[in-house]
Amino acid sequence: MTSAPPKLYVKSYGCQMNVYDSQRMADLLGRDGYVETAGPDDADVIVLNTCHIREKAAEKVYSELGRLRVLKQAAAEAGRRVTVAVAGCVAQAEGEEILRRARVVDLVVGPQNYHRLPELVARTSNGARVVDTEFPAEDKFDHLPAPSAAATRARGFAAFVTVQEGCDKFCTFCVVPYTRGAEVSRPVAKIVEDATRLAEAGVREIRLIGQNVNAWHGAGPDGSTWTLARLLERLAEIPGIARLRYMTSHPRDMDEALIAAHGELPALMPQLHLPVQSGSDKILAAMNRRHRHDEYVSIIERLKAARPDIALSGDFIVGFPGETEQDFRDTLALVDAVGYASAYSFKYSPRPGTPAAEREDQVPEEEKAERLARLQARLEHHASAFNAGTVGRTVDVLLEGEGRLPGQLVGKSPYLQAVQVMAPTSSKGEIVPVRITATGSNSLFGTLVSASARPGGPAVDEPRVASAGF
Ligand code: 5AD
Ligand code: SF4
Repeated sequence: MTSAPPKLYVKSYGCQMNVYDSQRMADLLGRDGYVETAGPDDADVIVLNTCHIREKAAEKVYSELGRLRVLKQAAAEAGRRVTVAVAGCVAQAEGEEILRRARVVDLVVGPQNYHRLPELVARTSNGARVVDTEFPAEDKFDHLPAPSAAATRARGFAAFVTVQEGCDKFCTFCVVPYTRGAEVSRPVAKIVEDATRLAEAGVREIRLIGQNVNAWHGAGPDGSTWTLARLLERLAEIPGIARLRYMTSHPRDMDEALIAAHGELPALMPQLHLPVQSGSDKILAAMNRRHRHDEYVSIIERLKAARPDIALSGDFIVGFPGETEQDFRDTLALVDAVGYASAYSFKYSPRPGTPAAEREDQVPEEEKAERLARLQARLEHHASAFNAGTVGRTVDVLLEGEGRLPGQLVGKSPYLQAVQVMAPTSSKGEIVPVRITATGSNSLFGTLVSASARPGGPAVDEPRVASAGF
C-alpha cells in the first residue's frame, strides 16, 4: 500500500509577484510529491509568502503565525509533524528575527532562494531551524520548474510571467530595493519560452510582471538589449496569445516606444497601472520619484493620444512626511485630471531602514486617515464614472471561470474589469463580445452578443460612450 502524498498549503500576501512565486513554490514541491491543499488544517508543509511593503501587511503574518502555533501543537499531539516556512519579503527583511519572535517557524526563506526550497524543507525534518536569505549569484528562474500544462489550466487562461525582479529606484518610503534587491531582467529567450509553453497549455493572456516592469531591458537572441515594447511585439506573435498586459510600471521608464505600442499593438490591452504616489512636486521630490506632476500628466496625455480609451490605474500614498493640505490638494487635482479607472491608496507607513522613516515631520495618524477618506471618495467617483461609461458598449471578454450565479461565467474586459455573463461552461478560455448592461460593486454584468450580429468590427475599437478622463 502506498502512503498518502504529503500536503502543501501556500498562503500568499501582497503583490502579483508573490502570487506568481507561490505558484512556482507549489510546482517545485510538487516535483517532490507534494499536493496542494486548500487550507492549513491538513497540510504537512505550510508556507506563508509574505509582504513587507506596509507595517500592517507585515503584522498580518505574525497574527497568522499565532494561529498556526495552535494548529501545529494540535498536530504534534496527534503525532503529525507540520513544517512552517516564512517566505517573501518579511522573511528577507527580518531573517533570524522571525525565528526569535515566532517559535512555530521552522524555515525562513527569502525570495531569491525559492529554488532551494525542497532541500531547505528536508533540512528541517530533524527539528533544525533554517534561515536562507542570501542573494545568490545564480538566476533562480534557471532552477524553478516551468508550470505543468495541468497546473496552468487549473489556474486559468490569464497567466503571469515574471520578466524582471528587484528595483533600483529607491523611493524614500519603499522597502522593495532592500527586500528584492537590484533590478535584474530575464533574457528574451527565456520569457518567450515560458509564454510559448503557457500558450500551448491554453493560456490566452500573458501578464508580464516585475517590481519595476517597464525598466525591463533583457538580452535579445541577437545579443542586443531589447526594450519592453520590442518584447511585447515578440510575445504578440506567439500563436494563441491574444492579450498582453504588464505591471507595475514607473513613470520614468515609460519610453516613447512603449507609449506608441499602446496605439500600435492590438494584443496590448488598453489598460495600464502607472503609480504616481503624489501630485505635489515637493512630495514627489522628497519621495525621490524623479519626475514632476506635469511630467506625469504629459505621459498620460501621450498615452491617451496613442490609445484614447486606455484605462489607467495608480497607487497613492497620503501623509508622506511633510505633506501639507496644499500638497494633498495637488494630489486630488491630479486624480481629477487623469480620471483613473481604478486605484490603490494607502496611508504612509514608516518602514524601518528607509530614509523617509527617519524624518521628524511625520504626519499625525488622524490627518492621514482624513486625507485617505477624501482621496478614496474621489477615486471611487472616477472608477464609477469609468465603469458607467462602458454600459451600453460591446467589449471583448476573456471568459476565465465560473461566475457568481449558476450558468454564469466571469471574465475580464480589455480594461481589466470583471464581467459576469450567462455563457456555456464550454466557452471558458474564449474571447467573446459582450454587451455591458449594468455595473455592480465589484463587477459588470453583460450579455453575450453573437459575433455576426455585432456591427462595426472588434469591440475594443469602438469609441467610449463616456470618458472619465481629460
Ligand atoms: N507606506 C505606504 N504605502 C507604501 N507603498 C509602498 N511603500 C509604502 C509605504 N511605506 C505603496 C506604494 C506602492 C504600493 C505597492 O504600495 O503606493 O506603489
Ligand atoms: Fe518601491 Fe516602486 Fe519606488 Fe521601486 S519604484 S522603490 S518598487 S515604489
